[in-house]
Amino acid sequence: MFAYYFPMESIVISIGGSVILSEDANISFFNELKTLLKKLSKDFKLYLVVGGGKTARAYINFGRKLDFEENILDAIGIDVTKVNAKLLANILEISNKKIPNTTDEAKELKNPIIVMGGTTPGHSTDMVGAELAEKLDASKFIIATNVDGVYDKDPNKFKDAKQIKEVTIRQLIDEYGIEWSAAGKNIVIDGPALEIINRAKIPTFVLNGKRLDQLEKAITNQQFDGTIIKI
Ligand code: UTP
Repeated sequence: MFAYYFPMESIVISIGGSVILSEDANISFFNELKTLLKKLSKDFKLYLVVGGGKTARAYINFGRKLDFEENILDAIGIDVTKVNAKLLANILEISNKKIPNTTDEAKELKNPIIVMGGTTPGHSTDMVGAELAEKLDASKFIIATNVDGVYDKDPNKFKDAKQIKEVTIRQLIDEYGIEWSAAGKNIVIDGPALEIINRAKIPTFVLNGKRLDQLEKAITNQQFDGTIIKI
């Protein structure tokens, strides 16, 4: 008898720092996140790329007032993403504890769940997630942010902003471009990430990372409340 072993599907999730350290994040949210990710890790190899959120932006804004150069501001942002990644890694128990510095390092790790933060200046952790998804030939890239997907305008600023259910990668590139603008720029998906999603044709979903039921649905191929980026 021959036994065939199929490699597990890899899924990359970019989790905004705003999801991990949101105003309303509490112990029960972290426990639910841990339970969900542990359950899903039986069927999927999960890679989590954690953002810097408010803390990163606070440091970056302060450094900018002090006239720090852009790449120093990015480097400060990267360090904060790694602190957030370390927090999540310790919550998850079954993940790596040492945070990798590159996507290549992350690719070599064997834990059921891999957690990392930023890597090099000039982009956000969304681009790190897209780069990792390309290297792993991941089946999906999920951007778990603090709003319910991509909107026609910033939903945190405009009450009448409308959620977009489907958008093509071309439309996003035409709207936002593929350049990196500045450290701490809080946009839905950064330009360098869009470029990789387009090049590598990675199926990409944007959803609210605080809504764990929607995250689970997106991972398990069910209909979810969020945005599908058509490639
Ligand atoms: P984030 O990925 O957190 O950016 O990185 P963000 O858009 O503020 O995302 P949210 O709010 O967490 O969803 C924070 C900053 O760190 C630098 C950039 O300056 C970025 O704006 N950074 C991060 C890098 O330069 N390279 C990286 O790989 C990651």
